[in-house]
Amino acid sequence: MIQIPRGTQDILPKDSYKWQFIEERLNEIAKNYNYKEIRTPAFESTELFVRGVGGSTDIVNKEMYTFQDKGDRSLTLKPEGTAPVVRSYIENKMQHDVVQPTKVYYMAPMFRYERKQKGRYRQFVQFGIEAIGVEDPLIDVEVISMLMHIYKSFGLKDLKLYINSIGDQHSRAAYNEALVNHFKPSIDEFCSDCQTRIDTNPMRILDCKKDRDHELIKTAPRMYDYLNEESKQYFEEVKANLDAIGIGYEVDYNLVRGLDYYTHTAFEVMSDAEGFGAITTLCGGGRYNGLLEMLDGPHETGIGFALSIERLLLALEAENIEIPEPEGIDLYICTLDAQATEKASHLIHTLRTKGISCDIDYKRRKLKAQMKDADRKGAAYTIVLGEEELSTGNVELKHMETGESKTVQLDELETLLEEK
Ligand code: HAM
Repeated sequence: MIQIPRGTQDILPKDSYKWQFIEERLNEIAKNYNYKEIRTPAFESTELFVRGVGGSTDIVNKEMYTFQDKGDRSLTLKPEGTAPVVRSYIENKMQHDVVQPTKVYYMAPMFRYERKQKGRYRQFVQFGIEAIGVEDPLIDVEVISMLMHIYKSFGLKDLKLYINSIGDQHSRAAYNEALVNHFKPSIDEFCSDCQTRIDTNPMRILDCKKDRDHELIKTAPRMYDYLNEESKQYFEEVKANLDAIGIGYEVDYNLVRGLDYYTHTAFEVMSDAEGFGAITTLCGGGRYNGLLEMLDGPHETGIGFALSIERLLLALEAENIEIPEPEGIDLYICTLDAQATEKASHLIHTLRTKGISCDIDYKRRKLKAQMKDADRKGAAYTIVLGEEELSTGNVELKHMETGESKTVQLDELETLLEEK
């Protein structure tokens, strides 16, 4: 038997309503904050991620689904959404759009070849937003507040927002130097990844999962102490404005994020809920001031975040929050013989075109089984169609919840149901 690829999942019909509910909510909230949807291809040139996300990151080094197409181009299934959006922004010259800044969102499958674990998939759906073309602490606050609004709107409570500033390129250079001086003498005690990171991206040592308990991580220099005045000022304004609108956060000086493009504001939301599993990051994001120029674009900056719907669902489950089940169909027509089934199949065709949701039993089961079926399909009303009903044109319209029924004409069914 051919099985589903490792790290992927089927969203079965019994569960797809949860996804639809979440997707609808996210679309609504995006509209609320005036973000418009952008759709980019499922695959991009590999170079986009190597340059955009960064050659020293786990994503680029270990996790990309890269392949040569028949034209011998190297393509990669997108592991994240920011680089593709920025590519599209540059290619479509959105810096000249009349509406500024560019505020977009996406909801699409992403692909990373990661070790399968609870909350970690090889294909997962990210909802993300990007605000490009403005550098102002207030837009950073808008992005973070939208994120928290999303989680709160689903009723989640056990959340923690962590923020940090990674500063600008100058502060980062000074900080990296301090980290190299701090870790270099004892780098042999660290994992092989960190031994590479010390040369490629020392900041990433700080969020290494293997070495997180090493004493030197705890005593490492703090980014904040290396921020120049401008970066400090920016960070202080972000915090002050988060305070002003009552968004609670904790500053985590070791928060560096796993992608290379970040500058200034960086943030993550974690779940504190018991039973969430080992991976507790629900969402991550931050500002990327150098990314557009790194991809040969204009001198514009951006900020955004991405969350996966898979982890949002896990968080809801961990906090015992149920997504309301959708309503069933309006009408189920039970039939007593072949002639009635044929008539019913014509009738539902008309009713459906009028917007009434209805169904019949194609398996030609006994009446009792059909009634059960109607119940399972959540039918609000049922009628039974047999020889007598066909000849008189009268049917009993039964309200399933109350059990009440009344005789109605078959040809007034449509109007009656429309009214109800
Ligand atoms: P990221 O931290 O790599 O950032 O991913 C963002 C979120 O995607 C994570 O917090 C998590 O919810 C989800 N995620 C990542 N990997 C997996 C996985 N294997 N299975 C399930 N969920 C996963 C980015 O992707 C950046 N592009 C975010 C961003 C947007 N920064 C600025 N704008």
